Amino acid sequence: KKNVLVAPSLLAANFLELGKAVDMVNRSEADWLHLDVMDGQFVPNISFGIPVIAHVTRQARKTCDVHLMIEHPEQYAEAFQKAGANILTVHAEACVHLHRNIQQIKALGMKAGVALNPHTPVQVLENIIRDIDVVLIMSVNPGFGGQSFIPQTLPKLRQLRALINGQQAHALVEVDGGVTVENAAAIVEAGADVLVAGSTVFSAADPATVIKQLKQS
Ligand code: DX5
Ligand code: ZN
Repeated sequence: KKNVLVAPSLLAANFLELGKAVDMVNRSEADWLHLDVMDGQFVPNISFGIPVIAHVTRQARKTCDVHLMIEHPEQYAEAFQKAGANILTVHAEACVHLHRNIQQIKALGMKAGVALNPHTPVQVLENIIRDIDVVLIMSVNPGFGGQSFIPQTLPKLRQLRALINGQQAHALVEVDGGVTVENAAAIVEAGADVLVAGSTVFSAADPATVIKQLKQS
């Protein structure tokens, strides 16, 4: 059985108790800590930024997976590296020079991720898939936690799997948005390697148990 990676999203945590949320994730079976950055331009919401992430990464004992939902991410890549990001993911829709942006992230010593909105076909990655460490498939429209999983994501994951296997690429496939204990197995079956979960984890009475259940998907 494949080792499913679980990445709790801090966006759904109580921001007055971020340290407790990070400690819970540290003690859990989670693999990555997912950090959502929103600029109010690329998406219609604003979350948290570099100073908050710098504090979180100092306390985190997991891989820090930073999801940039911002315009001009190339202007901030170095600042996020200094703030402790291990994986830096940019949106294909926000990057005119996506390949250059990926090379920049890798040159800074981070793993490079590319996120695709629900309307963006996986074929945009056809010529660069071998240069990417993580493909993040948005299974909701980015900007908010707590939305419902878009079912068309499942056939899209199969298309991405075929693209990756066809080129013997090694990118991990991460799914973000509306992931629940109920739909996790179908998402993994369709090709996901990494499950992001915000509200499913942090609205639970026992978050560590939900993380464990997601890992068993
Ligand atoms: C949404 C963010 C997600 C969000 C997921 O734009 O990218 O990472 O935290 O939240 P849930 O799991 O509640 O859909
Ligand atoms: Zn995210």
